[in-house]
Amino acid sequence: MGHSDPAISTRALVKDYVDFWGRPKVRALAGLDLEIRRGEVFGLLGPNGSGKTTTIKLVLGLLFPTEGEIRVLGRDPRETMARARIGYLPEETYLHKFLTADETLEFHGRLFDIPKAERGRRADELIKRVGLEHARHRAIREYSRGMGRRIGLAQALVNDPELILLDEPTAGLDPIATREVKDLVIELKGEGRTVLLSSHLLADVEDVCDRIAILHRGRACRTGEVSEILTVQNETRFTARDLADEDAREVERLLAEKASSVRVDRPRETLEAVFLREVRGPSGDVPAPASASACLSADMADKRSDGDVEAPASGGETGA
Ligand SMILES: Nc1ncnc2c1ncn2[C@@H]1O[C@H](COP(=O)(O)OP(=O)(O)OP(=O)(O)O)[C@@H](O)[C@H]1O
Ligand SMILES: [Mg+2]
Repeated sequence: MGHSDPAISTRALVKDYVDFWGRPKVRALAGLDLEIRRGEVFGLLGPNGSGKTTTIKLVLGLLFPTEGEIRVLGRDPRETMARARIGYLPEETYLHKFLTADETLEFHGRLFDIPKAERGRRADELIKRVGLEHARHRAIREYSRGMGRRIGLAQALVNDPELILLDEPTAGLDPIATREVKDLVIELKGEGRTVLLSSHLLADVEDVCDRIAILHRGRACRTGEVSEILTVQNETRFTARDLADEDAREVERLLAEKASSVRVDRPRETLEAVFLREVRGPSGDVPAPASASACLSADMADKRSDGDVEAPASGGETGA
């Protein structure tokens, strides 16, 4: 197995859930083709019931495919060798509620046969990494939902996995905790690990995933790079700061001669960026466009000579 094979590949993967009598009841995956490269953050996006959790369980070898093929780290996912190198955060926390964070990591470290000294060192590092130092000696049953997600994440990393499966890692988290989980995912990628995460929260996958697949009824109806999926290919946007109104009008006139339509607006921030800046201060490192700049966007493709110019007065407050 070379490092050139993908971390995960599925071909025409079908999963039927069967009833008590073994009769097919639900087709959860209906011919899924996926290829997840080593070292990338890949997002499975899709509405409830689209097959995200089913896919993750097949990758883990917890479920058996009805038809089709799946390879994980170059192996059949049911081989224990593959599983030892995988970290998994399930959709619902299943940790022992009477254990503390320390004891939880100790317990899972022992399951993976990690030597005692190394277990202690890793527990310290992971608890710090997920921000649970203040609660490490409290029982998990007392944890809030966000704290539960954090200890789940630490548990998923205890075996120093090269492939990490996170099923809805940010479900139920507030925006600060969500940002922290996203930053952690980016760190894990920086360490050379592969991350597969699922979410139905569009904003979550947008800024951490290199590529995504949009699942619908058990199929990937769109797969690709996030930036490519989100870029409007036939539009060009210029952003200028402190542009005088009359100059803006002149630029607009010039553009109107070349483009099929011209729109002038001001950039908007995301609510996430505003929220994080307000609660964390200006260092909340989410890039935010400057509010004083105006934004021009021109539709260059499909250029018509009878250019319909649909530009509000320059400097207008309207969004796109
Ligand atoms: N154990 C099961 N028995 C029968 N049907 C199941 C089982 N688990 C899932 N399903 C069905 O398979 C389909 C896909 O479910 P899955 O849990 O994979 O979706 P999901 O994308 O993870 O949804 P969500 O966003 O709600 O977590 C759904 O129709 C679901 O009802
Ligand atoms: Mg699910």
